[in-house]
Amino acid sequence: MRERYASGISDDTAKKMIELLNANLANVIDLTLDGKQCHWNLQGKGFIGVHQLLDDTADRIREISDTIAERIVILGGQPNGLASRVAKDSILDDYPTDITEVDQHVREITDRYKKVAETLREAIDTAGDAGDEDTADLLTEASRIIDKDAWFIGANAPKK
Ligand SMILES: [Fe+2]
Repeated sequence: MRERYASGISDDTAKKMIELLNANLANVIDLTLDGKQCHWNLQGKGFIGVHQLLDDTADRIREISDTIAERIVILGGQPNGLASRVAKDSILDDYPTDITEVDQHVREITDRYKKVAETLREAIDTAGDAGDEDTADLLTEASRIIDKDAWFIGANAPKK
């Protein structure tokens, strides 16, 4: 392992947290790319509002991936955000290329936001159980931001 900048954390806990954070990093990066795919491809009623909103959500989610990656470094690990690795490890399937309507895109990207937030929430418990409250706190903030953006994006589609 590299130098650890957070003291009072055992090797075992640091190793677990690095793995946990790297797993979530892949999902968050994939979600960032999906957001752009959606931003570019949606068409129809309500286009401009969702298109512009997705610029704001992209900024927020990029900030989250940066915070996760930097925590990995602080714990003495190596973040891996390479495209090949994200493609291999992300929990998200490829974003569909056969949808066009705003409503379809809104539902698709909202479901993806929810999935990533759910995985982050599971990781909060893992981090808390391992005794790394700082990582648990980071993941809590991340999932809260993603939940809010799931709402901001999702509320643009009529109720199912
Ligand atoms: Fe753009």
